[in-house]
Amino acid sequence: MDIWKLRGGSRLEGQCFVQGSKNASLPIIAASLICPAETELNNVPRLRDVDSALKILRHLGCCAEQRGNDVYINSTGISENKIPHALMLEMRSSVIFMGALLARCGEARLSLPGGCQLGKRPIDIHISALRKMGAEIDEDGSNIYCRAAKLRGCELFLPFPSVGATENIMLTASAAEGETVIKGAAREPEIEALAEYMRRLGCNVIGDGTDTIIISGTKPKAQLCYRVISDRIVAATLACAAACAGGDVELRSVDAGHFSTVLHFLKQAGCDIICDKHTVRLRSDGKLYGVGDVCTQPYPGFPTDAQPVLMAALLKAQGRTIITENIFENRYRQAEQLCRLGADIQIDGRVAKINGVERLVGVRLEATDLRGGAAMIVAGLNADGDTEIFDEGHIKRGYENLDQVLRSLGADIKLL
Ligand code: EPZ
Repeated sequence: MDIWKLRGGSRLEGQCFVQGSKNASLPIIAASLICPAETELNNVPRLRDVDSALKILRHLGCCAEQRGNDVYINSTGISENKIPHALMLEMRSSVIFMGALLARCGEARLSLPGGCQLGKRPIDIHISALRKMGAEIDEDGSNIYCRAAKLRGCELFLPFPSVGATENIMLTASAAEGETVIKGAAREPEIEALAEYMRRLGCNVIGDGTDTIIISGTKPKAQLCYRVISDRIVAATLACAAACAGGDVELRSVDAGHFSTVLHFLKQAGCDIICDKHTVRLRSDGKLYGVGDVCTQPYPGFPTDAQPVLMAALLKAQGRTIITENIFENRYRQAEQLCRLGADIQIDGRVAKINGVERLVGVRLEATDLRGGAAMIVAGLNADGDTEIFDEGHIKRGYENLDQVLRSLGADIKLL
């Protein structure tokens, strides 16, 4: 059990580098499997989910290791197409190995993935697309068995721009005969990162970043190197922390365009924000204003992953904020815990109304999930007295050395 101990009241000041993106690294690690190659990845965060992805690769017969923030993968010697249930349960992203294994072996045996409990997280869009591409898929509610004598490219219309389904289709399409056109594709920066990695691996991918992605064949390269993009949700978390604690912080090695919707609301809340090519400087006196309506949407809309941390930043804001969560059905699990600090949050289905309060007072909390746990840290930095967050390891699934990063900015935080 991790215990995060923090004392509110310190301003955050200074500069910090933002880690590489978890949600870009994981599908790229799976993609390293689609053809035999030696991959070097740089700027990969040291996280439990990354360890889990590398464990899956090793189980399948690849060499895969992380040294610092570099990952080295040799996927030439794959010997297995089955992922054990225990490994599947370690994270949601394990489902992306379905497309990678189908592309490489024409067969994949796995089970339903784990990950944060954010409500129903079906994989029907993944399955129906892969079936249209020629895969036969048997699923019994827990096991999934896929095989394809021949994968064929086709035109697919996604009913929702699912990030995971778009990734699975892109990987499967790399081995399909002919052209695969994904209409209604996800447009997240992590999709563009995967497409760029696939191009370096020799795949022909165009249109990423738009809602139509076209994949047409692969001429595999034996060796490649790729630097993972920075983590826009970690950047958003640090920006939210500095906004409500007050301070003057420079986030380095970020792409402001990737979290511009979060910065937009922090500006509206009263922060002074200057964006440069790879840095964002945020100054705040800690006195924020409610921002009215915030709706989570697929990219380029406001990200669901930043919703809990923005909520936490605005708990003492003067006025009201009304959040509508459109992506996950149960993504307010942090709210009950935040109310224990003295917050005024009313939840009605997908809508959360936050009325700013004068004061938050530190208490003992339990981390509910990855971003919910991060939200409790943000709120604790803005509470009077001591907050203790008991965490079964959720926060470390997505944040590398968060305690050290915040301490370097002047926060009073310890991880026991
Ligand atoms: C990715 O999850 C991210 N995870 C999530 O980040 C992120 O919240 C999410 O995209 C949305 O941006 C990774 O990249 C590893 P989706 P994913 O498929 O791919 C429904 C974090 O905190 N849906 O776009 O699982 C689904 O139920 C995590 O870092 C279907 O109905 O997201 C959900 O309501 C949490 N059928 C919505 O779509 C499907 O077949 C979005 O899911 C697939 C999805």
